[in-house]
Amino acid sequence: MNQKQQPTSHQLDAWRGDFGDDYRDRNVADETMIAARTAMWKRILEPLADQPPHSILEIGANIGFNLRALSRLTDSDLLALEPNEGARTRLVDDAVVSADKVFDGAANQIPLEDGSVDLAFTSGVLIHIAPDDLGPSCDEIHRVSNRYIACAEYFADSPQEIRYRGQDGLLFKRDFGAFWMDRHPDLRLVDYGFFWRRATGLDNLTWWLFAKDNG
Ligand SMILES: C[S@@+](CC[C@H](N)C(=O)[O-])C[C@H]1O[C@@H](n2cnc3c(N)ncnc32)[C@H](O)[C@@H]1O
Repeated sequence: MNQKQQPTSHQLDAWRGDFGDDYRDRNVADETMIAARTAMWKRILEPLADQPPHSILEIGANIGFNLRALSRLTDSDLLALEPNEGARTRLVDDAVVSADKVFDGAANQIPLEDGSVDLAFTSGVLIHIAPDDLGPSCDEIHRVSNRYIACAEYFADSPQEIRYRGQDGLLFKRDFGAFWMDRHPDLRLVDYGFFWRRATGLDNLTWWLFAKDNG
């Protein structure tokens, strides 16, 4: 049980409620999906082969599409932060992450100590954070990471909001790589790329991998 009151916002209320339940229930962690995510993580972690992370936190893990893939690639300790209760339950019931490593919370309030994981990442999560909450969310992710930060998100040259599943206020695209580097100049770009849907089965995701100054 977390001591602090959980943060709220229009977006978080949606993800904790029916909107988030529907997402969780319509996305199936089948072999095709996990194989695509495994290829994705194999590529992202490639530059870290000599200094692999020993602990990895996914912020907004849902039922663990990425964490299931990562467990095929690494023996790292896997941790998950997820605001949707049913998704957290699935992470534990499916033995993706042990119960003591699944946390209720949001990116802008992570119940972990400073520098407590080697790699903290988001995948399709920064896009769902309102512009005013994005900076504080990135600050928290930066705070809990000891060495590396990664994100895979939808790209746009300049910030724009897109209607998502017929609703406003739930999807925001931008150059998240630039946002990260402008806000946290200690970050060094390790690698970046694009997962094109036709070639990868992934959702046209642009990704970045950063190392903290001490990484
Ligand atoms: C589109 S899903 C992506 C799930 C997973 N990261 C993936 O790549 O398959 C977005 C997830 O982020 C969670 N989420 C939404 N807003 C969040 C926030 N502010 N902090 C942490 N997680 C959030 C949602 O509950 C949902 O599980």
